[in-house]
Amino acid sequence: MVTGASSGIGLAFAHVLAEHGYDLVLTARDAISLASLATELRERYDVIAVYIVSDLSEPSGAEELYGEVKRCGLVIEVLINNAGFNYYGPFADVELSTTLAMIQVNLSSLVILTQLVLRDMVGRGKGKILNIGSTAGFGPAPYVAVYAATKAFVLSFSESLSAEIRGTGVTVGVLCPGPTESGFADRAGMLQTKVFHGNLMTAKQVAELGYQAMMRGQMTTITGFKNWFQVWSMRFAPRSIVVRIAESLLALPKATARSSQ
Ligand SMILES: NC(=O)c1ccc[n+]([C@@H]2O[C@H](COP(=O)([O-])OP(=O)(O)OC[C@H]3O[C@@H](n4cnc5c(N)ncnc54)[C@H](OP(=O)(O)O)[C@@H]3O)[C@@H](O)[C@H]2O)c1
Repeated sequence: MVTGASSGIGLAFAHVLAEHGYDLVLTARDAISLASLATELRERYDVIAVYIVSDLSEPSGAEELYGEVKRCGLVIEVLINNAGFNYYGPFADVELSTTLAMIQVNLSSLVILTQLVLRDMVGRGKGKILNIGSTAGFGPAPYVAVYAATKAFVLSFSESLSAEIRGTGVTVGVLCPGPTESGFADRAGMLQTKVFHGNLMTAKQVAELGYQAMMRGQMTTITGFKNWFQVWSMRFAPRSIVVRIAESLLALPKATARSSQ
């Protein structure tokens, strides 16, 4: 099952898994994109692909999604917890409803789905969970403070679980992409930031690296040498410097900064 399969990295994961012969449960809010992806996967890879429309910003969304999976008699062998979004702006200006929806999608729904699916996997003695974090989860990130904090949670949570479940036949890993080509930055309103300038990895590259890492049972994967080096070098600078560098990369020129919605 891939959450956030309607676009970007989730959509790329759906292709990679189908290419390797997995049947797919696709989920997101956009029913039209999911329906056309399911058709494409069936035709192209000769796999079974079904979709379930689900809004993971709703507090009951993840449990309802899991209930639907059970009702349909589907068995989840691999869970890619990918759904997530970002919202750019000074924390004081962002609508509280946006902030809470982000925490629900990026963090709470991920925790709920992980627990429900993990219990089944441990019961069967087999399964793989890959949570999508971010390089933003390794340090402070002004103007996307809540997003970075949700990804710091995903990183810590996933690494802890990977140790707890050792020997059960189940693996939990975390994939931490750096800036990646998708609709993510545009939707977040941060395309103009320095972070999204230059050559970005494609969603396909990220999904392929994630798939390989998951098959190896790797705990933490940072996509690409440049991203890995950035995260590694942060260890050697005082946090007061790290936050200043992050601020300079994430600040918008005043003329393009958007006001709160
Ligand atoms: N792109 C990057 O630079 C980057 C870097 C690091 C980490 N990531 C992480 O990678 C993951 C995928 O991002 P992406 O780049 O592929 O972005 P994307 O193209 O915007 O895709 C996000 C996916 O999440 C789904 N989603 C968003 N809100 C949802 C909700 N309320 N309920 C259910 N599904 C929801 C979207 O589907 P619907 O809109 O159809 O619901 C979509 O399929 C995210 O967790 C993101 O934080 C991205």
